Amino acid sequence: MTKTPHKKQPIGVFDSGIGGLTVANAINRYLPKEEIIYFGDTAHLPYGDKSADAIRYYCLKIVKFLLERDCKMIVIACNSASSAAYNVLVDFFPGEAIFVNVVDPLVAGVVEKNYRKIGVIATKATIRSDVYQRKLRELQPGLKVAALATPLLAPMIEEGYFDNRVSQVVIETYLSNKAFEDIEALLLACTHYPLIQTDIADFLGEGVEVLDSTLFTIRDIENKLRKQDLLNDEKKNAHQFYVSDYTQSFEETTRLFYNEHLQLDHYAIW
Ligand code: DGL
Repeated sequence: MTKTPHKKQPIGVFDSGIGGLTVANAINRYLPKEEIIYFGDTAHLPYGDKSADAIRYYCLKIVKFLLERDCKMIVIACNSASSAAYNVLVDFFPGEAIFVNVVDPLVAGVVEKNYRKIGVIATKATIRSDVYQRKLRELQPGLKVAALATPLLAPMIEEGYFDNRVSQVVIETYLSNKAFEDIEALLLACTHYPLIQTDIADFLGEGVEVLDSTLFTIRDIENKLRKQDLLNDEKKNAHQFYVSDYTQSFEETTRLFYNEHLQLDHYAIW
């Protein structure tokens, strides 16, 4: 890093909206001494339907915002943003913070298991980027990967439709796809999808593991901070949660993704 980082600096976490709160929630739970500054780009939600160039542009501006708030680490808590922008961000802000994405930790976790065939579901942007397929092929050349864009799932979850008949029908429609025959695991490559993990596991039945990146990402965050002696062991400041567009509905929806009550502050970044 160009300036000397210190343990007490916050961790910046961002997403296209509020789905990335699943990652913030896990940081709050497993690394409770860390302070979080969260940014949800609700003005541009969903990233899953945007071009890679548009997503990169949004991410550059958000990371600048988080770095101005002195974050020691930036967690890209969005698969669409991780797929489109991780390399660009690392190149654009060299040495200014430790960058974590949600793709690499999940890929590393999957490779450890030595499956023969897996499925991946994600937004259109993530699937189109080919990032999971490419990274998995590099690390485990023989692995068969069936990837499918499932764009109805994120808005469905945000509307609170999970663990019910609507979610069951949508999930069944997507996962009955022939490409998923014989998979041993399904990767939930979207930060919203942990909320439908049970629905999906019920549909797939025993014998197919359902994996999402949250805990793998926490392990990566912890390892990277520990390696640089940057885990906070002091008293932390309160977390801050910003959104680029505020509505009451966004604030109410945060309850689905974050275990504690939180208040969203509107920050006019655009
Ligand atoms: N957070 C996004 C992701 O993980 C899903 C929502 C969106 O499309 O913006 O890909």
